[in-house]
Amino acid sequence: MFHFKEEKIVVTSALPYANGEIHLGHVVSTYLPADIFTRFLKLNGNKAFHICGTDDFGVPVLIKAEKEGKKPAELVKEFWEKDKKDLKSAGIDFDVFSQTSSEENIELVQYFFQELNKKGFIFTQQVEQYYCQNDKKFLPDRYVIGNCPFCGKENQYGDVCENCGRTYAATDLKDPKCAIDGSVPIRKKSLHYFFKLSKFDKKLKDWMENNKNLQPEVTNYLLQWIKEGLRDWDITRDISWGVKIPLKEADGKVLYGWFDNHLGYISFTLKLLKDKKIDGKKFWNDAKIYHFIGKDIVYHHYLFLPAMRMGEGSFKLPDVLPVRGHLLLQGHKFSKSRGVYIGLREFLESFPADYLRYYLASITPYDQSEINFNWDEFQAKINNELVATLGNFIHRAISFINSTFEGEVPKPKEYDDLDNEFIKKIGGIGKEVGDEIEKNEIQRGLKKILEFGAFCNQYFQKKEPWKTKDPTSLYLSIKAVRALAILLYPYVPFASEKLWKQLNFKGEVSDQKWDSISEIKIRPKHKIQKAEILFRKVEDEEIKIQKDKLPK
Ligand code: MF3
Ligand code: ZN
Repeated sequence: MFHFKEEKIVVTSALPYANGEIHLGHVVSTYLPADIFTRFLKLNGNKAFHICGTDDFGVPVLIKAEKEGKKPAELVKEFWEKDKKDLKSAGIDFDVFSQTSSEENIELVQYFFQELNKKGFIFTQQVEQYYCQNDKKFLPDRYVIGNCPFCGKENQYGDVCENCGRTYAATDLKDPKCAIDGSVPIRKKSLHYFFKLSKFDKKLKDWMENNKNLQPEVTNYLLQWIKEGLRDWDITRDISWGVKIPLKEADGKVLYGWFDNHLGYISFTLKLLKDKKIDGKKFWNDAKIYHFIGKDIVYHHYLFLPAMRMGEGSFKLPDVLPVRGHLLLQGHKFSKSRGVYIGLREFLESFPADYLRYYLASITPYDQSEINFNWDEFQAKINNELVATLGNFIHRAISFINSTFEGEVPKPKEYDDLDNEFIKKIGGIGKEVGDEIEKNEIQRGLKKILEFGAFCNQYFQKKEPWKTKDPTSLYLSIKAVRALAILLYPYVPFASEKLWKQLNFKGEVSDQKWDSISEIKIRPKHKIQKAEILFRKVEDEEIKIQKDKLPK
């Protein structure tokens, strides 16, 4: 893995579709890990940017807009605003949050199409599509409903079966019906553009085999797919809502959403840097590139995305594509329709964002395994770890300095063995935690912080400064509190900022240097503020309310 100091780094989070709200599944697999990672990188002296925006185009958005009697552009604007707000409330910080339907993206997407076309990676073919004679339109993907060609399940959409999970073309459906008016569609030929994905099999294989920063558990099955043969990819949709194919003869057809959406990573970055008067393309190509994603979109990010960049040729490929697994709720698959579901906004109406961040970070490993959200465990972790271990130590150190030394940090005396051990711990903890976060081992980093917190508590317990009025232990404790404020910043930024104020330091935690965790940065006589509770307990009653919402 890399060692990050003064590096250029682009971190992207998968772009949420602009037709549904953000839920905890998105947060756990993508936004939270990417946010923690970027916050750390920034403190550690890197030029890092967190890039995101909504994924605006495609059939599902269009159908939803039609149902609500809105223009698609209106609908996506609403979701753009909502998503932006919800993510911000969760402390997910972006340097840019744009839209795939933005001018800058459309321009880059059309440029990519033209380049790929010039280089011979695009070809056309007549494809039979369903066409509704009443509505006078072609019916791609979700505009057709019928029986799954594989398992026979009724009422499936024209792209994927919800029952068996297999994908197919709309024309494969049995007993097809137009999703708008229920009539039986006819078949009609349409000229479609294809991307020659199969041409890239060798290059993709080399890239996956030689890039040691990709998770082997992911590349192993991708290499298997490549071996089985890659199919060329139909990138055309006969609808009005999308990036127009920039050719006259394309007759207003648009590009498939998965052709344009990931190019948003690049176009948003270029736009952000242009506004900052930085040469964006140079930055991109000099930078380490991270695309954070959930496991359901591995196919697109490990095949389409790199192949398109290889084909165009002038934008660097990703260095790391951190993939994390699906979220379960009380052991069951997340499902909005079955009520096994927690929306982000809904969660934040009941609990602070830091609790969500702490809990999710503490249960989410850096791999594809399923992550189980359990309300009792949530309560236990918040109460035992965040409140009793971390919060308690912080609170006691600040309170005793207030009560014993009128809020002035006392001057230390001689250090004994235990003090020296404590000093050593404070000196080493920043690197220990940072090494984990750099490797994307965010859960392990948090565990180290918690262990450090437990040591701080034991130290305090052994020293009993409330009896002895020992200035040395209070002096060292407040140093440890300062270290914790910075260590916790990537994970629980709201509490960390509050703590910074209690410590009465200038500026924001976000302006501090990660390296300063180990330095002696508090002078005797420094005046701190009164202690304020950072974390309160989660009561049984609150958990009961949440559990009662779940299906019986
Ligand atoms: N909107 C897609 C999803 O939610 C993710 C798009 S990520 C991008 O599955 F790379 F394609 F932009
Ligand atoms: Zn099926």
